[in-house]
Amino acid sequence: MAFPQWFPPLVRRASDWVDLQLSLLVEDLRRVAPLAHGKLLDVGCGDKPFEEIFLPFVSEYVGVEHEASFGLTDASQRGKGPDVVYDGYTLPFEDGSFDTVLNVQVLEHTPHPQRLIDEMARVMRSGGTLIMTAPFSFRLHEQPHDYFRYTPYGLRSMVEKAGLEFVEVSAHGGLFSVMAHKINVFLAFRIARVTSVAQQIGKHSHEGSTRESPRYWTFPVVGPSLVALTAGARLLDRWAPDPTEALSHLILARKA
Ligand SMILES: C[S@@+](CC[C@H](N)C(=O)[O-])C[C@H]1O[C@@H](n2cnc3c(N)ncnc32)[C@H](O)[C@@H]1O
Repeated sequence: MAFPQWFPPLVRRASDWVDLQLSLLVEDLRRVAPLAHGKLLDVGCGDKPFEEIFLPFVSEYVGVEHEASFGLTDASQRGKGPDVVYDGYTLPFEDGSFDTVLNVQVLEHTPHPQRLIDEMARVMRSGGTLIMTAPFSFRLHEQPHDYFRYTPYGLRSMVEKAGLEFVEVSAHGGLFSVMAHKINVFLAFRIARVTSVAQQIGKHSHEGSTRESPRYWTFPVVGPSLVALTAGARLLDRWAPDPTEALSHLILARKA
């Protein structure tokens, strides 16, 4: 079926809004983007979904990916991707080559997370900024390459071990966002089976490609449920914040 041109962007905006994990992450990346400067390296960039947010603040945006794991993702089939690929161990750049290092939802996918942070610290110039996010409460994904979840204290300890100065850590969502996100994922992916539709509009590109057919007949129930759960979670998290729950955290660190 051929959709009118305006339809996919509209579906994409609606699905980004109900995707609490992504929309809260993007809000926080927009907040910290003005701290990015100079030459930026996006480590584990996937199909560079956050390039537009950072481009106004940096002189160059370079994306690097772990060749083997990127090759398994839907993003690798769709054109936009990294500028450089590597073996996942030693970043192929000289010491002190970048002013900003961005690392978004990658740390859970390497069995050697401290080594990756050490490498990111190595390629940063002094005065450089690290902007890193990692999930705290998130379903298994990109299996079998899904190894860890992170607390804010774990993230702080790891960046300090790499010789960086801790600046701040922020949480994405609270108890109600965590609960709503989990139910939304169940409804969207297990009941309505929308993964292939999501990949056609550029989402879920870090998972393997799928051709599973959506269950269109569930949409009239699943769609309104997703909207109601998302709106309710956003309101309740404001009304009754719970600092012990979050979907992800963002940590900022600086190289002295
Ligand atoms: C959940 S995706 C996130 C992609 C992108 N940052 C985003 O937020 O859309 C995780 C990415 O980490 C990459 N990755 C896994 N291990 C890596 C490593 N050691 N170095 C760099 N990237 C890695 C995977 O190939 C995958 O594209």
